[in-house]
Amino acid sequence: MLKLDLSNLEGVVSQEQVNALAPEVEAAHAKLYDPAAPGSDFTGWVRLPENYDKDEFARIQKAAARIRQDSQVLVVIGIGGSYLGARAVLEVFPSDGPEICFVGCSLSPNELEAVIRKLDDRSWSINVISKSGGTTEPAVAFRVFRDLLVKQYGAKANERIYATTDKARGALKSVADANGWESFVVPDDVGGRFSVLSAVGLLPLAAAGVDIGQLMAGARDAMNAYDKRDMSNPVWQYAAARNLLYRQGKKIELFCTYEPSYSFIGEWLKQLFGESEGKDGKGIFPASAQFTTDLHSLGQYIQDGERHLFETVIYVDDTGCDIAIPYSEDDGDNLNYLAGKPLSFVREMAFQGTLAAHKDGGAPSMVLRMDKMDVHALGELLYFFELSCGISGHLLGVNPFNQPGVEAYKKNMFALLGKP
Ligand code: PA5
Repeated sequence: MLKLDLSNLEGVVSQEQVNALAPEVEAAHAKLYDPAAPGSDFTGWVRLPENYDKDEFARIQKAAARIRQDSQVLVVIGIGGSYLGARAVLEVFPSDGPEICFVGCSLSPNELEAVIRKLDDRSWSINVISKSGGTTEPAVAFRVFRDLLVKQYGAKANERIYATTDKARGALKSVADANGWESFVVPDDVGGRFSVLSAVGLLPLAAAGVDIGQLMAGARDAMNAYDKRDMSNPVWQYAAARNLLYRQGKKIELFCTYEPSYSFIGEWLKQLFGESEGKDGKGIFPASAQFTTDLHSLGQYIQDGERHLFETVIYVDDTGCDIAIPYSEDDGDNLNYLAGKPLSFVREMAFQGTLAAHKDGGAPSMVLRMDKMDVHALGELLYFFELSCGISGHLLGVNPFNQPGVEAYKKNMFALLGKP
């Protein structure tokens, strides 16, 4: 299981202060099960690791097997919660089957063009994902790629489009039904940013060869372990500590990882926490950094800039491989003091050194330590943060499950585009 270490908060937030917040955290946790609590219509994700639709899960695996057999490329179209979870997992566990290309998560012609070029002479399919069924970015990308698919496959294109959307509503659902596309459901009570463990994440992941049974098992183990209603629960400790840091003026949470392939976990976390907590004039601003790379850029600010941030470091002990540093006869680079040492040892020392330096500099860290990052452990990590986020939102006193603020740009854009 995950281990949360709060020792580097010493001098800023004490274990006693964290423990004293137990009644508030308990009330916030209870709100996830309270039909009268704000956002209660969107808490289906809480029990999703056990309450998922088993027939649909089997259909996802069948569709994935078909895609793996008939497609060299799977174009996954979606934005926000309809893409970040799958992308985060796939950066860690890349596809051993079709190349997975994500589009519809920007309005960049260059991005579309680059993927279009990859399709030349290759077999491919589309998984279009939109809960509302009408989000502009994925809708535009889908129009482009559907057109290409029909040009390549004619009427058979319909057998290569997989739609993940609402079970009954929305433009995408209507077109999917009209054309007989295989459809998967984003459950009504699961919002986009909490949907990675639904068909939204599971179909692209299964098509890429990720063991989605293991992913769900990891999430399920986390669901059972972190339902514990006392301060021995690391989710409670994390939610309490970050709330106390916020109250002390630490308004930015920097999610830090030490593996480049974990950087999209940071992107997923930014959406999860940013959209859930940033409202009503409140909320911790979520950011992410990739160490040690960003120690040579953001590192200056973290150590020495405005003192309004704290770090949540996701540190994995065994990342699956290691490399020994070779001995050199001439020692021209003066590195022989490291000869024979594994690179992971150097990384661990960089991590320990950074924790101490940032603590001394007034940027305290929480550390979420994992012994390894396999699919099961990643399922656990995803659930840990979903639950932490739901509880944190209630602790802050906001509805964690709406996102009224994202409508403002759309309204302006539609007016400028002349949308009828
Ligand atoms: O979390 C959310 O609700 C959003 O980020 C959505 O996932 C995002 O806007 C995409 O919406 P949709 O799936 O309806 O296209």
